[in-house]
Amino acid sequence: MAILAPSLLSADFSNLQADIEFVNQSKADWFHLDIMDGVFVPNISFGLPVVKAIKKHAKKPLDVHLMIVNPDAYIIQFKEAGADLLTVHYEACTHLHRTIQSIKQTGIKAGVSINPHTPVAALQNIITHVDLVLIMSVNPGFGGQSFIPESLQKISELRNLITQTHSKALIEVDGGVDTTNAATIIQKGADVLVAGNAIFAATNRNMVVDMIKSL
Ligand code: DX5
Ligand code: ZN
Repeated sequence: MAILAPSLLSADFSNLQADIEFVNQSKADWFHLDIMDGVFVPNISFGLPVVKAIKKHAKKPLDVHLMIVNPDAYIIQFKEAGADLLTVHYEACTHLHRTIQSIKQTGIKAGVSINPHTPVAALQNIITHVDLVLIMSVNPGFGGQSFIPESLQKISELRNLITQTHSKALIEVDGGVDTTNAATIIQKGADVLVAGNAIFAATNRNMVVDMIKSL
């Protein structure tokens, strides 16, 4: 059974508490929070005060996905805001090894994310140091996009790399995940599925959560 992390990017920002309570009472496991700075990605989402506000009501771990340049400058703030896991982008980190160590030093888990064009092989020298790898299965910046099919091959490659190196990293897949492709994504080796639009735009959200959690 995979971990399911609903992305609040697709939640109703004018009534966020209701959507947080939905996740609390559902079978979903984590809250996925997308932080966008308008520089690394062509969109701005929300920042530290909103993460803090979510933390007040969330009864499940906060999985914070930083789509920002210079994440090193904000590691401590995101830990203090309530992040349980902080994921940075490979493409945004010149000194990724140092960034991962800095996140771990704060006592929380550290993840690295790769964009659709970044090969899994680029992770060879960091894979044993991270708690999670997030494979972007859309170009980051927006919810509600279509899953890029080539991502499936990357999940398999990453699963092999993890096996070969005895890494304990979890594989998270983010972007365009829905009830039609979740089974295949899990079968390729994913441990964590992020879903935004598929859950929050559904008429019966619990049905979507239950369906993905039953796989
Ligand atoms: C995209 C974000 C995703 C997004 C997923 O940049 O990283 O987490 O919210 O949304 P869906 O599931 O709608 O593709
Ligand atoms: Zn995300």
